[in-house]
Amino acid sequence: MVSRGNWGGRLGFILAAAGSAIGLGNIWKFPYITGIHGGGAFVLVYLVCILIVGLPIMMAEIYFGKMTQKSPVGAFEHFETESKGFFHYHRAGKAMKPFYLVGWLGVISAILVLSFYSVVAGWAWHYLYLSFSGFSGTDAEVTSLFGKLYVNPYLQLGWHTLMMGITVWIISKGVSKGIEKASKILMPILFIILLGLMFYALTLSGGMKAVKFMFYPDFSKIDAEGIIQALGHSFFTLSLGMGAMITYGSYLKEDVNIVKSSIIISILDTIIALVAGVMIFSIVFSYGLKAASGPSLIFKTLPVIFAKMPGGQIVAILFFILLIFAALTSAISLLEVAVSYFVDEKNWTRKKATIILGFFIYLLGILSAVSSLKIMNESYLDFFDNITTKYFLPVGGLLTILVFAYGIDHKSKMEELGFKSWVYFLFNWTIRIITPALLIFIILNKMGLFKI
Ligand code: PHE
Repeated sequence: MVSRGNWGGRLGFILAAAGSAIGLGNIWKFPYITGIHGGGAFVLVYLVCILIVGLPIMMAEIYFGKMTQKSPVGAFEHFETESKGFFHYHRAGKAMKPFYLVGWLGVISAILVLSFYSVVAGWAWHYLYLSFSGFSGTDAEVTSLFGKLYVNPYLQLGWHTLMMGITVWIISKGVSKGIEKASKILMPILFIILLGLMFYALTLSGGMKAVKFMFYPDFSKIDAEGIIQALGHSFFTLSLGMGAMITYGSYLKEDVNIVKSSIIISILDTIIALVAGVMIFSIVFSYGLKAASGPSLIFKTLPVIFAKMPGGQIVAILFFILLIFAALTSAISLLEVAVSYFVDEKNWTRKKATIILGFFIYLLGILSAVSSLKIMNESYLDFFDNITTKYFLPVGGLLTILVFAYGIDHKSKMEELGFKSWVYFLFNWTIRIITPALLIFIILNKMGLFKI
């Protein structure tokens, strides 16, 4: 048995898990979807989704990891054979273990997500590079920088190579000397840069307008599409549905409180998304630009402003460092999900697993980096993004919560979670009915089977 590794301490686990959660989802995606869906009301729906969908799945994942000390495939296998619950059934005298397929789905999702995540993180690297020479020129010239990058496969490949290289390097060092150490360095810097940028942005003329936009709910602006987006994003942003939190939970040795840790991780993730939103919209409103510019908000709209604002170059450099750090601590958790499977189940050494998988994911990422390659009329990047965030992650999240809600006995859950009986009662019915119902609703809707 190859040694799996453990966290050095509680803080290391929290920072690593928060590092996984806080990523491009918070700084790139959350602000632009909030912009598209009109602000405050969307933010409120999103917060409710974090509470009733994200938080319970986070607790379930950390529980599975901590209890089994195994990565997703092994964790589900363990419960399948141990529990005599609802999901344990036999056919033709052979134990059927359909639920370790959830673990497998997680490993496949992690590989697919990292392949394009690294390419998008590469854009942030390119913009950091551009910020050093400063953005200048007319608005149209600055905006066109993105298009130039997008159609240049060599440039995209170069940054993807760098991003994957660093991710592989950190993961090869192990759990406490790699992931934990990197998180302990990167996360505090990320918090400081983001707070600094937010305070600076709030001094600009659009600061108060941004705060109002984010926190004053105008329910006429939210529609069904917004609610579905908020639901889907709530567990992408918390890194749920692919076993990342199972994997991180499996390295817990000491007695860490699952409920408390899940709440802290979710709150940190939420605060960072909100702060990023306030900061970005303060800048956008101060220069009279539109909040609803979509995915290009930070790669086209912001650089136009960086070119004009006083101190814009420094703000740009700090902003893209922030984005890279956020992406890096998420990328390492994605690679770790895949690596831990081969270490646990196939007895590979960490080095071997990291190098082979890292290289494989790197090759797969080439499909996304070369934007002229298409599959079913869309780029590989959009294709991988869509199949994972629309289907694989919600299905993974749904099956995880179902196994947790129906396959594990109440006594073990109550003991481990330490809830008072009335809290457990509420929790139990939430995870049995509400969370799965909402996830089924998203999945059916994305499949076009259920329109509202
Ligand atoms: N939570 C990360 C983000 O917000 C993305 C991610 C999803 C990372 C799933 C790991 C697993 O960007």
